[in-house]
Order: sequence, then C-alpha cells, then structure tokens
Amino acid sequence: MTPGPELLRYLDEAHRGLLVPKNVMRAGLAVGPGHGILDLGCGAGHELVELESAGCRAFGVDSSSVMLEASRLRLEAHGLPVRLVHADVHDLPFADATFAGCRIERVLQHVRDPATVLAGAHRVLRPGGSLAVLEPDWASVALASADTEAARVVADAVGSHIPHRQIGRDLRRLLIEAGFTDVRTETELVVYSSLTELSHVISLERAAHVAWSGGLIARERAEALLREQLALSEAGAFHATFQRTVIAWARRPA
Ligand SMILES: C[S@@+](CC[C@H](N)C(=O)[O-])C[C@H]1O[C@@H](n2cnc3c(N)ncnc32)[C@H](O)[C@@H]1O
Repeated sequence: MTPGPELLRYLDEAHRGLLVPKNVMRAGLAVGPGHGILDLGCGAGHELVELESAGCRAFGVDSSSVMLEASRLRLEAHGLPVRLVHADVHDLPFADATFAGCRIERVLQHVRDPATVLAGAHRVLRPGGSLAVLEPDWASVALASADTEAARVVADAVGSHIPHRQIGRDLRRLLIEAGFTDVRTETELVVYSSLTELSHVISLERAAHVAWSGGLIARERAEALLREQLALSEAGAFHATFQRTVIAWARRPA
C-alpha cells in the first residue's frame, strides 16, 4: 500500500485491532524510563506515543514524509517530544551502539532486504540492547472447504503482492543470522468465524482473482469456492485461521 490517506486509515484500524499483541511486544522489549528506543518504520506514530508516554525517548524512522507528518501531528497532539528521522531502514543514519532498544512492526515484510535491516538494528543497539519484531505470516492462512485443493490454492495466493509474505516464520532464523542472542518467539493464531471478520484483514476475492488470473486454478472453481465460503459464513459455519502476528524478541550480545 502506498503511503497516503488509505494507509493512514488502515494503520489506525490495525492499531485498534492489534492492541493486545502490541502490548505483549512492548512488555517483552523490557525497556524503561529514559531509555532511547528506535521504532523502525514508525508509520503514523502510534507506538512512539506509547513509548514516550512510558518515559522512553522514542525515535521514529520512516521513508515516507506522509507517515512522518502523521507521527509529528500525533506526538504534538499528546504534548510529547518529536524525534523523527526521514531515512531508509536499510541505511540507518545513527552511530553504532546508540540505542537501548529497537522495535520493528509490520515493516520487514515490505522491505527490499530484511537481513540488511536487522544487521542495521544490531549495529545501532548497545551491547545487551533489546529488539522486538512483529510480523504476520500471510502464508499461514487456512480455509475449511469441501474443495480442499481450491482452498489451498486460494489461501496460497493471500498476500502474494507482499515481497516477504512468510516473514513471520523466518524471523527466528533471520535474527540468529544477524548475530542476535536470547531469541524468543510467540505466535498468535486467529480463528475467523465469518467472512466479514476475515475481510477486515484478508480479501478472499482478491486472492481468488490472483489464483485464477495466474492460471493456478480454473476461474469457475475459484468462484465456486467464494460462493461456498459465503454460504458457510451465512450459515455460521465459516472457519479460517491465520497466524496474524509472530513476535520475536532478541538481544545484541553484551
Ligand atoms: C504497515 S506500515 C507499519 C507502521 C508501524 N510500524 C505500525 O505498525 O503501525 C509500514 C511502514 O514502514 C515504512 N517503510 C517501508 N519500507 C521502508 C523503508 N525501506 N525505510 C523506511 N521506512 C519504510 C512505511 O512507510 C510505513 O510507514
């Protein structure tokens, strides 16, 4: 999604929907008042407000001026200090060992090279500093259907426009490869009991279109699956699961 009003609306909605995992992520970051915390790909600044309100010095980095402006307005509306940097997360303009903590939420899935971003986070963290990452695993979607093959093909097309759609399951390996230690992961499996609930996060129509237009399945079969899913939903019998968040915590070795 290009940074703009649509992404800002999406981030506001996602912020409300993800309050619990965001709190879990923050609690595991284990940072305290006065600590300098970096938020890579800070978006509209929701978490900068939380961190500053908890007494941290929160620094937001984003490559989008639209997002940085939204962050600035949000911080100012709360009467909080503004510490924003316009930069690419692949090339952080900070000295080595600057920050006590770093967080990255729903950013690695979109970047060119997640390993480079994590190497940068490792470099700017102080020895012993802590990192928290939250990403989805779009490749984890599963749908209950009488046509299991069609359901698998359509589920496999979810998030196909996202460069690293299964980043959630790769976090642990990427963190180890970047030199982090004490890596811990936690996954939230969400069960959706209606198409409406699912459609706040995932568009099955879009996935079905990708699947049939890419020649992975016949159009009639994809459309029959959509009709079946709608009927199941109307009957209260819809069932889909998704690893919406994988949270990983790690430390730069002391
Ligand atoms: C889905 S939003 C998540 C925002 C925020 N972390 C949150 O969870 O609310 C992804 C953010 O990453 C930023 N972003 C993507 N690629 C980036 C890059 N290479 N360098 C800096 N920011 C980037 C986007 O501009 C956007 O603000």
